Amino acid sequence: MGPKWLKDAVFYEIYPQSFQDSNGDGIGDLQGIIRRLDYVAELGCNALWVNPCFDSPFMDAGYDVRDYKLVAPRYGTNDDLVRLFDEAHARGIHVLLDLVPGHTSDQHPWFKESAKADPNEYSGRYIWTDDAFWGMEGRPYIAGMTERAGAYMLNFFASQPALNYGWLDPHKPWMSAIDAPEALATREAIKDVMRFWLDLGCDGFRVDMADSLVKNDDGCKSATCAIWRDIRTMMDADYPDAALVSEWSNPAQALCQAGFHADFYLDHHFNGYNTLLRDYETEGGDHSYFLKDSGGSIRRFLADYLPKYEQSREYGYISLITCNHDTPRPARTLSAAELKLAYAFILTMPGVPFIYYGDEIGMRYLDVRTKEGGYQRTGSRTPMQWSRDEGMGFSTAPAQQLYLPLDASDDAPCVEDQLRDADSLLSEIRRLTALRHAHEDLQADAPFSVINDDEDAAPFVYRRGKMILAVNPSSREKRFEDGLLAGKRLAYRIGEASLADGCLKMPGQSFAVLA
Ligand code: GLC
Ligand code: CA
Repeated sequence: MGPKWLKDAVFYEIYPQSFQDSNGDGIGDLQGIIRRLDYVAELGCNALWVNPCFDSPFMDAGYDVRDYKLVAPRYGTNDDLVRLFDEAHARGIHVLLDLVPGHTSDQHPWFKESAKADPNEYSGRYIWTDDAFWGMEGRPYIAGMTERAGAYMLNFFASQPALNYGWLDPHKPWMSAIDAPEALATREAIKDVMRFWLDLGCDGFRVDMADSLVKNDDGCKSATCAIWRDIRTMMDADYPDAALVSEWSNPAQALCQAGFHADFYLDHHFNGYNTLLRDYETEGGDHSYFLKDSGGSIRRFLADYLPKYEQSREYGYISLITCNHDTPRPARTLSAAELKLAYAFILTMPGVPFIYYGDEIGMRYLDVRTKEGGYQRTGSRTPMQWSRDEGMGFSTAPAQQLYLPLDASDDAPCVEDQLRDADSLLSEIRRLTALRHAHEDLQADAPFSVINDDEDAAPFVYRRGKMILAVNPSSREKRFEDGLLAGKRLAYRIGEASLADGCLKMPGQSFAVLA
């Protein structure tokens, strides 16, 4: 099932712009990340996912790559990135880079060549029609900007032309088949990028829009999956310890068919994940499960999650996340007490969990202007709040030069304060990750099953391996009595949970782990 280190991996996602500035220019950088590796290790995270740090015009925060093999100068040099790999490895931390295989920046040299009227090696690297006037079969496209007579397809924003991996059903002369030489060349070019960084010491990739390669791929994405299986064959042969994590959010495809080691469970309206943490767009108010007394039931999560888990558990891992750079921070709707329970759940579930930088201190979703194509996502991308110093320990640059504004409120959460407070969210997360590392039953592989999801009078009770866990996000005391509890002892708790005479008492907003 892939690299062994994933079994006990707890990831930390770093948005490099906003994590730590080391040279006072107001923007985070690789030396800054290196400086904070001890913090990451003490948080209990033993793996990193770094958002794209490659040369880019930053029309989409770096998801518009101009040179896949060059670190963006604002973050440092390729040597700095290699130093990050080395320093991380010295602390037992693996590092995933962000691979964007579906599109590049329109400033990428491949695209510039491809946009020329004269045919050349890169003419087929992107998806072009053979006419500038007739659009592109209902797909987003741009025409009229290039010397080449044709429209080119977009994969995301206007600056992100789609790379050409072919069409499942080529029915126009300009559509490549999936095994056409130009489609195969694109695949080899991406493999070459992967090999470049793997050879320099990276431990794998988080793959952006991993399902977006082949166009008009059928409902089950069979052709896109076949490309990833081919890439996985390369990885198994030459980089067996490297991991592939997909932004796909469909484990039946990503894990069972495409061969990814882990797949994110993303926040999509009304899916199981959404009902846990951020149900705020539901009509009639927020019923998210961890919001105290919202009336939300864990059953909404389970109905979506369980079939996915059962179907894919033999193949790979579902990754539960606290949040990511695309979604509102959970502190937008949940209090610190609620977040503790939510994180306790995320960090005791199977698969490979991810903590988004700043969520461990409950950083807020800020109301800020869009930056680098962030739009409403920008509020989750503000600088890490380390201390009460000027620039909050993020940067020594003057406030107006910072990549994005800091949380200006007096009670803005920060690392320094929370490290001193045993009751803080940060301290709780550090204890939870330690608990997970100490018990194989709480790690990626141990089976998960539901013991009780009838929450009228009892908490939600679930099993991981031989351990029994319970959570009660409501404000009412709940009890659970069962022969299963015989011989168990309380190994961890949040709130005043207690176990006596086979009865587990769970006061409002509590969590318990029984070993
Ligand atoms: C993914 C990234 C997002 C980016 C998009 C286009 O969804 O997470 O930030 O804008 O792909 O690359
Ligand atoms: Ca800097």
